[in-house]
Amino acid sequence: MNETLERWQSRRAFILAVTGAAVGLGNIWRFPYMTGENGGSAFLLLYIVFVLLLGLPMMMAEIMIGRAGRRSPMQALAYLAAEASVSPRWRWVGLFGAVTVFFILSFYSVVSGWSIEYLVDAVNGSFVDRSPQQIGASFDAFLADPLRMTFNHTLFMLLTMSVVAAGVANGLEKLNNVMMPLLYLILLVLGGYAVTTAGFGEAMRWLFTPNLAAIDWSVVLNAMGHAFFTLAVGACALMAYGAYMPDDQSLPRAVFAVALLDIAVALLSGIAIFSVVFTHGMDPTEGPGLMFVTLPIAFSELPGGQVWLGAFFLLLLVATWTSSINLAEPMVAMLVAAGWRRGRAAALVGALVWGVGLLSVLSFSTLAEVHWIGEMNFFALVSTIPPDIFLPVGGLLIAIFAAWRMPVEAAASAFGGSPAGFRLWQILVRFVSIPLTAVVLLSGLL
Ligand code: PHE
Repeated sequence: MNETLERWQSRRAFILAVTGAAVGLGNIWRFPYMTGENGGSAFLLLYIVFVLLLGLPMMMAEIMIGRAGRRSPMQALAYLAAEASVSPRWRWVGLFGAVTVFFILSFYSVVSGWSIEYLVDAVNGSFVDRSPQQIGASFDAFLADPLRMTFNHTLFMLLTMSVVAAGVANGLEKLNNVMMPLLYLILLVLGGYAVTTAGFGEAMRWLFTPNLAAIDWSVVLNAMGHAFFTLAVGACALMAYGAYMPDDQSLPRAVFAVALLDIAVALLSGIAIFSVVFTHGMDPTEGPGLMFVTLPIAFSELPGGQVWLGAFFLLLLVATWTSSINLAEPMVAMLVAAGWRRGRAAALVGALVWGVGLLSVLSFSTLAEVHWIGEMNFFALVSTIPPDIFLPVGGLLIAIFAAWRMPVEAAASAFGGSPAGFRLWQILVRFVSIPLTAVVLLSGLL
């Protein structure tokens, strides 16, 4: 399998693509409800520490492998393992990543479908003059309606796979260039609005007053998993994007920019959502429905609220679209590397993910009480285990390969920063990121 010749057309395009992958449901939907369920400021603090100590260096590790290998994840790993004369089995990390993104995309598409439904509802003014009970009930009714959920899930998979089918230079890049800047604009407007609400002060206290007593191992494990999830690290998905990175770009700088932006987006949406939650005396531990129930209630009571709500769901849709494209890319790249045409590969991957996604759709109605592990139905299972366990395990293996196995010259040149910077990265990954991830995984699971 030869080197890929595809490249992002500019440095900005690469940064936009990686930000597009990172910023998504993780920041806007998952971050607020996980923070709500895991003690507020305690979770926030751990999440930021893990992003900086684990997520950032491992993100570099992952992109470096893709960039040095210039192939789809499995081939890149196999190629670099051969160069370094280490076991060819390292390529299975690429397959593990593909399994991880497969399950993540299957539920990701379902939840993204909710935002299509809510965008349409907001534009139609469906929430105007409705009581909180009515709005809560209409969310429940929507979840209990497999046909409507399937329709939105199908639409979202089609949106995703049509861009992936068009290929990196034609599809992803054009989309990212237009959509991402738009997203930040809408988000800043929403943040500015939050400052004017009565619950802003309480939201700030709840998010930022240190509360170390709330920390236990499950909070630590969840915060670590979330750091991987939100940065899109650990599934070889960024590895697939690294393969298209231009030769002359500095990786550390690009990755820093992305991580800071990712934290900023999470904080902004957290502040916006919790300001609204506290303004209206709602419950921050509501769970996955947090955003979908509280925001329409709050906004329905505001003048011009439907416009804000519509903007918010548009933002969410854009953000999830660019992330789901990244989730699908490594699977499609793998088939393309095996000789498939891109369009066909996208169609097959899309169809399989869509089919498994139906199990998540039905988890809110027919299959709600079918438990796979412990109390978890299918949706609970795929939205917890792959993000919180598979991603850290994948990230750990990727980091071990990049820091201890891959040829050092190849790693240094793929790093693309100063020699001192590379050395610092190496020390951080070898002696902080790898052991810390292993310790948290073991302590959290045992
Ligand atoms: N980072 C994405 C989000 O926050 C999700 C994702 C995970 C994307 C893993 C790619 C790989 O929504």
